[in-house]
Amino acid sequence: MPHSPPQVIRSIAELRQVITAARRAGQRIGVVPTMGALHPGHLSLVAAAERECDLVVVTIFVNPTQFGPHEDFQKYPRTLDRDLALMSAHRVDVVFTPAVEDMYPPGAATMIEVAGAAEPWEGACRPGHFRGVATIVLKLFNLTQPDVAYFGRKDLQQTLVVRQMVRDLDVPVEVRVCPTIREADGLAMSSRNAYLSADDRRAALVLSRALFHGAELVRGGEHDARRVLAAMHKLIAGEPRVKLEYLAIVDPVTMAEVGQIDSLAYAIVAARVGTTRLIDNEPLGG
Ligand code: PAJ
Repeated sequence: MPHSPPQVIRSIAELRQVITAARRAGQRIGVVPTMGALHPGHLSLVAAAERECDLVVVTIFVNPTQFGPHEDFQKYPRTLDRDLALMSAHRVDVVFTPAVEDMYPPGAATMIEVAGAAEPWEGACRPGHFRGVATIVLKLFNLTQPDVAYFGRKDLQQTLVVRQMVRDLDVPVEVRVCPTIREADGLAMSSRNAYLSADDRRAALVLSRALFHGAELVRGGEHDARRVLAAMHKLIAGEPRVKLEYLAIVDPVTMAEVGQIDSLAYAIVAARVGTTRLIDNEPLGG
C-alpha cells in the first residue's frame, strides 16, 4: 500500500508542536538522523523505525560543525526531492530539515565533547568531528524526543560516541544499531560514493575485500591480529589508488587495538580513494 508522504518540517517551532502532540497521544517516536543523499543504508534504518515506532521522524541536516575546514561541507550532496521520493516506499511521518541558522543561531556557544572512544581513529584523523556529531545528535534528540534512535554500524565509532553520550548525559533514548548495507560487489553504501570516478569506484572495492579476507582468516582459526592485519595490508597495498589512513583490529566497546582475536572484534579501515575519504568495518570472531 502506498504511504502518504511525510510532513516536511523546517521550523523548530512546528516540529515541537508535532512532537508534543505525539507524546500526548502516547506514540512511540523513532528518529533516524541523516545528512540526506539517502541510499539503501539509510532506508534500512527507516525500515527498522517503521517496524518499531508509531511516529517515524527522519532528520536531514548537513551539519557544518562535524566537517573540518578542508572537508566537503560545501559540496556534500543535497538532494531533498530525490530523498523524499526514496522515502515514499516507507511510512515516514515527519522529515525535519532545518536551516543551519536555526540549528546554530548567532551566540550558540555549547558543544558536547565525548572522550575515550571518540579519541582514536576517526577522532584523530578528523579533529573536532565527533564534537560536531555529538552536539547535533543531542540537539536532534532534544528536538524530536525519540524513544528509539537508529544508527548504522557502517559508522561504528559514531555509534560508540552516541552511546557514551546517551549514557553519560542520561538521555532517555534507546540507541539501535543496524547492520551495514553494501552494494552487490561489497562496497559499503555511502553518500560519498557518488564522488568516486569509475576507476576509483573499482579501486575502492579492495577495502571491503580486505575486510572480508580478514574475517575469513579469523573464521579459519587465525587469532593473531598482527597476522590478520598483515594479510589485509598486503591486499590493499596492491591497489595504488587507495591511500590508507588507518587499518586496525579493535575492541567493539573501547576501540582499543587488540592483539588476540578471542572474542568479537572489528576490523576498521579508513582510506582516501582519489579525493574521496571512505571508511568501513567488519566484525571478526565473536
Ligand atoms: P549520514 O552519513 O547521512 O548517515 C546517517 C545514518 O545512516 C548513520 O547512522 C549511518 O551510520 C547510517 N548509514 C550510512 N551508510 C550506511 C550503510 N551502508 N549501512 C547502514 N547504515 C548506514 O552519520 C551521519 O549522517 C551524521 O554523522 C549524523 C549522525 C546524521 C549527524 O549529523
